[in-house]
Amino acid sequence: MQKIVLLTGAGISAESGLGTFRAEGGLWAQHRIEDVATPEGFARDPKLVVEFYNARRAQAAAAEPNAGHHALARLEADFDGEVVLVTQNVDDLHEKAGMKRVMHMHGALTGALCGACDHRWPANMVMRPGDGCPKCAAPAARPDIVWFGEMPYDMEEIYEHLAQADLFASIGTSGNVYPAAGFVAEARRHGARTIEFNLEPSAVGSDFDDIRIGSASQTLPAWVAEVLGG
Ligand code: APR
Repeated sequence: MQKIVLLTGAGISAESGLGTFRAEGGLWAQHRIEDVATPEGFARDPKLVVEFYNARRAQAAAAEPNAGHHALARLEADFDGEVVLVTQNVDDLHEKAGMKRVMHMHGALTGALCGACDHRWPANMVMRPGDGCPKCAAPAARPDIVWFGEMPYDMEEIYEHLAQADLFASIGTSGNVYPAAGFVAEARRHGARTIEFNLEPSAVGSDFDDIRIGSASQTLPAWVAEVLGG
């Protein structure tokens, strides 16, 4: 049975109004990564970090999936093989589009994590520094986001999927951040065909067999129709 492994990045959510990180005026032009996306930044100023993710959680909650998200959900529903989606995104637009198998390797804005006991639970829309953990009661709640220097979620399972992939498609990611940027090389090593969807080649663009230049809301529906035969 054919297996397709998908990887998405911020580019697939750009047309839903959610900012990407490294474009002109992107999130990392507005905030220093070390201040809002590292454990050290959180320890230094939990209020700044919690408020940064409260704002992104509210924005993501108000956002709607676009044709790119819906195309991947159609692929998962109608493809007669297996489809596994790994996303670097922390928004829930894939789920809002009806996707069932979504692996959030960088965590999710809808999640909270206890810094003391690692318990995870659905986040309040507005988190406050020092919120208590529902399990151990420690005042150590934090956004369930994988920060720089932390281990992404589900890596063992992801590498198993990459080893079994017949086709690996990477969508809307700049290929700047590992381990995700190395997934294409891993899939190739196991014999998968590889295709990239982006406005321009990513930093690992040369690792792909094929590249579809354009907006994901245009290129993905056309590609999924090709894969599904119409
Ligand atoms: N369609 C397709 N691709 C797009 C679109 C679009 N409409 N708009 C932007 N892109 C592409 C850009 O060309 C760029 O290559 O999406 C990519 C976004 O790159 P980044 O902003 O670097 O985001 P991403 O690759 O997801 O970042 C990876 O870095 O900061 C960390 O944890 C964060 O998950 C994030 C990781």
